[in-house]
Amino acid sequence: MVIRPSHVQLHHTSQLGRRHFFRYLAGGATAALALGQLRPAESLEPTLEELCSASPLNSRCQNYLPGVQAKDEQGQLIQANQLLSTPQSGNRIAVKGLADPAIVYLVITSPPQIAEYAISSVCTHLGCTVAWKADQKQFVCPCHGSRYDDQGRVVQGPARRSLGLVTVVVKQNQVRLVARPPAFDPRSKTLGFPR
Ligand code: FES
Repeated sequence: MVIRPSHVQLHHTSQLGRRHFFRYLAGGATAALALGQLRPAESLEPTLEELCSASPLNSRCQNYLPGVQAKDEQGQLIQANQLLSTPQSGNRIAVKGLADPAIVYLVITSPPQIAEYAISSVCTHLGCTVAWKADQKQFVCPCHGSRYDDQGRVVQGPARRSLGLVTVVVKQNQVRLVARPPAFDPRSKTLGFPR
């Protein structure tokens, strides 16, 4: 039996350890790629959908309409100019189009414009659908009484988190809903994600 000096054994062991480590890394990366968890370097560029929902005026977005077209509660496609033809600054207008959340509230600013974000109707307590009460300027949940201000911030529990936001793009007289947070978060006054 050959007895190796201890430093040789240590070296041998650390070599084996390193080999296992690199094999482990390579295996992990392959698995992650297979599962789509790692994006190849070239796909770190935003997709056209991402770019044009965050920066609709970007020159690459001239002919691109992100998201889906908003419909009114009767299922009719909404035309931006018609929506703004009646004075309703400060109002919140329930529209459909996205699968989740099924209803969002457009925000009409003053002077009347359609804001670049809409407010989700899904109560953050247990998921009931909140209703806009124009006379109280609040969203009210019929299930357990949570209330939110006109920006979707909680003013009365049991809900503890603000209503979600989605991106709105107004283009070619269409109102487009994109199921991702807006580039600008009107509640924290910060960028939601890079433009
Ligand atoms: S689900 Fe809205 S308050 Fe409970």
